[in-house]
Amino acid sequence: MLNELIKLKNQAFKEIKKSGALKELKKLETKYLGRKGEMTNILRQVKDLAVKERPKVGQLANQIKEELQQVIKNIEFELQQKESGVKESATVDVTLPGDRPCLGHLHPNTIIQQQLEDVFARMGFLVLEGPEVESEYYNFEALNIPATHPARDIQDTFYLTKPGLVMRTQTSNQQVRAIEKYGAPLRAIFPGRCFRNEATDVSHETTFYQLEGLMIGKDISIANLVAVMKTLLKEVFKREVKVRLRPGYFPFVEPGFELDINCLICEGKGCGVCKQTGWVELLPCGLVHPKVLESGGLDPKEWSGFAFGLGLTRLVMMKYGIDDIRLLQSGDLRFLNQF
Ligand code: FA5
Repeated sequence: MLNELIKLKNQAFKEIKKSGALKELKKLETKYLGRKGEMTNILRQVKDLAVKERPKVGQLANQIKEELQQVIKNIEFELQQKESGVKESATVDVTLPGDRPCLGHLHPNTIIQQQLEDVFARMGFLVLEGPEVESEYYNFEALNIPATHPARDIQDTFYLTKPGLVMRTQTSNQQVRAIEKYGAPLRAIFPGRCFRNEATDVSHETTFYQLEGLMIGKDISIANLVAVMKTLLKEVFKREVKVRLRPGYFPFVEPGFELDINCLICEGKGCGVCKQTGWVELLPCGLVHPKVLESGGLDPKEWSGFAFGLGLTRLVMMKYGIDDIRLLQSGDLRFLNQF
């Protein structure tokens, strides 16, 4: 009998709370509490129960009856107001759920960065972070770019008032730091934010993201480099994308290459993003220069390696078809809510 009572209570509450009109509520009141109502029926049967059971069941039945009367009274009041045209805002319905706080979501840059971190972690690469305010030594000199080297002009950046410190221009700043810390063999990627003194346009920002990769071991060759590049692009685009490899010069690799991707904004026809060439510079790379290995304390006769510096922000543009890099840091929710 006790179980039956509880079941009846739950059912009655459910139906009463759902009722949307006074008429309906009255019907439910009769159904449960009327002279021939279900609760009344149960109360009538109490006298036929075993003496021991009577007080327990009787007490619960009366309690439920009172609760039902109360909830009917409350809902009746609300429905009366609603039906007599009193504005809903005049009443406070404490049973209504509160306003949901707006939840943020990941920035497209972060989505792709995490995806790449996953890919490289599966290939046994460490994921390392490094300083954005960097010494000129790690950003340039350790990478075979002395103070007078013309390559510094291409990567003009923001210098701090404290001498010898710059906002890093490239995630390559992590190369020698990582070699010093972990030695060889080594497989690591370094995703992060870089800064350059740029006149911004649709494909250049003053602040953008790169993802550097470094692999050092015995007999590492261009074949290893190409295999890793291909895996990377396949995982991001989930389809074959046209790429081209051409010679490229960076003082910290020898030989050096530029791996360009067929522009996915215009499908190679030529647009503002690819400067009408049909190709987007995405992945400079090469075999680690002996001087860099030496900077990290390794013997170039014993160790070799490859490195690449993926333009992460540009990759995001290609992946999502974004035709202006400046949108990514605009903070414009109309743009960001699409991801
Ligand atoms: C470098 O920064 C080298 N550190 C890359 C490297 C690493 C070469 C390891 C060899 C070995 P570069 O200046 O080309 O190279 O920049 C690399 C990529 O970053 C470019 O291909 C491009 O995709 C992206 N990039 C460069 N400047 C900007 C910018 N102002 N805005 C957005 N993306 C940029």
